[in-house]
Amino acid sequence: MSARKLLLLSTFTASLIACAETPTPPPAPMVGPVAPVAVAMPSYPHELGAMVIPADNPQTDAKVKLGHQLFFDSRLSKDGSRSCYSCHLNEDGNGGHDPIAVGAGGKVLTRHSPVIWNVGHLGAFYWDGRSDSLEAQATAAWAGGNMGVGKENLDAKAAEIAAVAGYAAQFNEVFPGEGVTPTTIVKALSAYERTLVCDNTAFDRFAKGDAAALDDAQRAGLELFMGKAACASCHAPPHFSIAYGGPGVYFNVGIGTQSASPESVDVGRMSVTKAESDWAAFKVPSLRNVSKSAPYFHDGSVADLKGAVRLMAAGGMPNKNLSPLMVDRGLTDAELDSIVAFLGALDCAKGLEQPTLP
Ligand code: HEC
Ligand code: HEC
Repeated sequence: MSARKLLLLSTFTASLIACAETPTPPPAPMVGPVAPVAVAMPSYPHELGAMVIPADNPQTDAKVKLGHQLFFDSRLSKDGSRSCYSCHLNEDGNGGHDPIAVGAGGKVLTRHSPVIWNVGHLGAFYWDGRSDSLEAQATAAWAGGNMGVGKENLDAKAAEIAAVAGYAAQFNEVFPGEGVTPTTIVKALSAYERTLVCDNTAFDRFAKGDAAALDDAQRAGLELFMGKAACASCHAPPHFSIAYGGPGVYFNVGIGTQSASPESVDVGRMSVTKAESDWAAFKVPSLRNVSKSAPYFHDGSVADLKGAVRLMAAGGMPNKNLSPLMVDRGLTDAELDSIVAFLGALDCAKGLEQPTLP
């Protein structure tokens, strides 16, 4: 285990212990008229923190509007069959619908599409963290199997976009002297993605002091999540993942190690670092909007949220590299239900809006 991981673990374990001790039990019901008693609310981190914005791609409203259109425009794909939005759909919590994503030309990819809320706060992208900026990630998605264009054809595709009169005018305004190029297309897409912020969930309102924002089941679920179930050692608030900022944090929880033959196992983070200790380790995903984003895990192998929670709470799937943090927490079925109820308090308020395309 790397020193960084250890440091993070010890920090988060410490905060976990602190959190586990902090919650104040609700006051016992009293009979008769009593003066209202101020109850100290447990405090949970909820500020999302600063976003990573490259110096050469500052946010402007016009650029965001352009990127929004491009994100929804299937003319950006090889065969007009896919837009970025095709695999990051509102009805799937802005993750993917298919267990394994299917790209342009019907090409079956290797992993499930993740939820893209708050990606502007990530420092490492993809389930294995192989990409270090939104700009690099968008280039790869566009050139690679997702949109199917091919690196060698990006200039030609940019020329097709430039032939759409409305786009040409907008690009000239947003990128004076540059116009439509693969670089400006990717910059606009990334600027739009940085506006996909999911805050102000019921959890956030609760964390800011609105005690009524969570119902009793959700509150019980939150306490389990932070305490007995130890979910927060990896899915800590405010992002509900400790992988935000920096190079990401990766764990083997066993998904995908069981059924496949050894040589066909997706080695995850190990494909980036080549380290055996990263075998079948994947980035800790944020749990914001998770109640809407079935199916779950990097291979989309679990169809429902309770099934995913049960698997995690039971210690994952045994294999040669399972994280020592994955142990059976001995939760009852009712406790699993409370955690599922709490995860519903992480629903983002809205989805992506359909723009008008030029
Ligand atoms: C065919 C489906 C598909 C299309 C189309 C698609 N994506 Fe994705 N997206 C995925 C999959 C699958 C992954 C995860 C791949 C992996 O981890 O190896 C992903 C990952 C991402 C991530 C990383 C999120 C994270 O948490 O690390 C971002 C950001 C993203 N896509 C944005 C885009 C953009 C921008 C476009 C358009 C240029 C796009 N996607 C088009 C399926 C798709
Ligand atoms: C050791 C770190 C760790 C702990 C502890 C942990 N998780 Fe996870 N969790 C992960 C990783 C890593 C993944 C992604 C695994 C994959 O797809 O291969 C994940 C995935 C998930 C997913 C699927 C999300 C998605 O978008 O597909 C859910 C739901 C989830 N965890 C809930 C929980 C709950 C609830 C707990 C506590 C009972 C918990 N986790 C404890 C690391 C952890």
